[in-house]
Amino acid sequence: IVMTEEIPKIKIIDAKNFVGKTVTIGAWLRQKRGSGKIAFLQLRDGTAFFQGVVAKADVSEEVFETAKSLKQETSIYVTGEIHEDARSSFGYEMAVSDIKVIGESHDYPITPKEHGTEFLFDERHLYLRHLKPFATLKIRNTLVAATYEFFNKEGFTKLDAPVLTGSAPEGTTELFETDYFGEPAFLSQTGQLYAEAGAMAFGKVFTFGPTFRAEKSKTRRHLTEFWMIEPEMAFMDQEESLKLQERYIAFLISKVLENNDQELDILKRDKDLLRSYTQLPYPRVSYDDAVKLLQDNDFDVEWGVDFGSPEETFLANHFAKPVFIVNFPKAIKPFYMKRHKTRDDIVVSADLLAPEGYGEIIGGSERDTDYDYLKNEIEKLGLNMDEYAWYLDLRKYGSVPHSGFGLGLERMVTFVTGEEHIREAIPFPRMTNRLRP
Ligand code: 4AD
Ligand code: MG
Repeated sequence: IVMTEEIPKIKIIDAKNFVGKTVTIGAWLRQKRGSGKIAFLQLRDGTAFFQGVVAKADVSEEVFETAKSLKQETSIYVTGEIHEDARSSFGYEMAVSDIKVIGESHDYPITPKEHGTEFLFDERHLYLRHLKPFATLKIRNTLVAATYEFFNKEGFTKLDAPVLTGSAPEGTTELFETDYFGEPAFLSQTGQLYAEAGAMAFGKVFTFGPTFRAEKSKTRRHLTEFWMIEPEMAFMDQEESLKLQERYIAFLISKVLENNDQELDILKRDKDLLRSYTQLPYPRVSYDDAVKLLQDNDFDVEWGVDFGSPEETFLANHFAKPVFIVNFPKAIKPFYMKRHKTRDDIVVSADLLAPEGYGEIIGGSERDTDYDYLKNEIEKLGLNMDEYAWYLDLRKYGSVPHSGFGLGLERMVTFVTGEEHIREAIPFPRMTNRLRP
């Protein structure tokens, strides 16, 4: 295909700069309808979804025949004039004058009829091309970019944690084990211990990478491979950390509202509701008070239990905002969390629960700084001390108060997009029953 110099090759997302001009766009055909005189082509070019109108009276017979013969997902170069069109969801359409087929497509499996979820995820490599995945993953991309922007602005250094590791700070029941030249190794559950080492070198760091949990429970909030952002801050107590966390969440939501208007419309997400979540501060409720509140509302919970999904949903909906539940029982939290000043049954921790049923989006705490205490906790858990000696070193050489937290990216994506199930929030989900594609 020879492109002429006069006809600019553009992306449809830039249509507003080309109204009334003839352009060429590389695109795929999603659907098509029409009559003997006109064909309406539903197109996408990787930046947006738009319509091309082919009027028999305005094009050569050959072009009209080509338009009529296009199959779902055929790739084409389509040339024509850009028009504003208030009726189309994107706001622009193309009056087509020429079509060149690039790659044919036959018997595309995801037809316009309804398909079951399992089928769509078996075809995830193709399903990515469709409206809902496109909108959801564009928003995920905004969250990733906004994360770097926020932490750069706040003076953090991005520090990459390893994926292969010997430690298991979040409990030993959900580990993926692998053979590392004859030694057992695990896929990382968290980058936190490495982030703590980093905070002692760079002050404020964040890790951002895939983390792994062999979660056997099938829920709509659990993946076996998910991406976590783990900031860790030296010389920062829990109160300051909570303020940073809420600023971060409000920043992420604002960035999506600013950049993803079209995608939020596609997903029918209530923007005013999202905007209300940018109002700070978020309420802080102690675990003790949360248990009382739940009991007063007929939940069958005892002090000491971890909250399940119905409890989390009730708590955040009660405040109609993300809510911090602070100071959990020590017995249900990891060994590294800082002991409370006056009570030995709780730790200085906080989970941030999202409203509308999206569950825990952040888990974090201040970290205990005492060498002997931590060594003892690790021994009590029966963990292999060789794997934690380096971590304990951090308490030997200039230990300082420090805090950190982990945001589950996919949980945040479901919350912002309003997606029911976490599998929608990652390009290629890994769950107990899914390793492919
Ligand atoms: O609460 P978690 O287990 O905390 C940690 O891993 C700490 N090391 C974080 C830290 O303090 N640096 O996990 C943190 C977050 C959860 O709040 C949740 O959003 C997400 O990670 N998460 C999952 N997301 C998807 N699938 C799973 N199986 C998840 N498990 C945790
Ligand atoms: Mg947690």
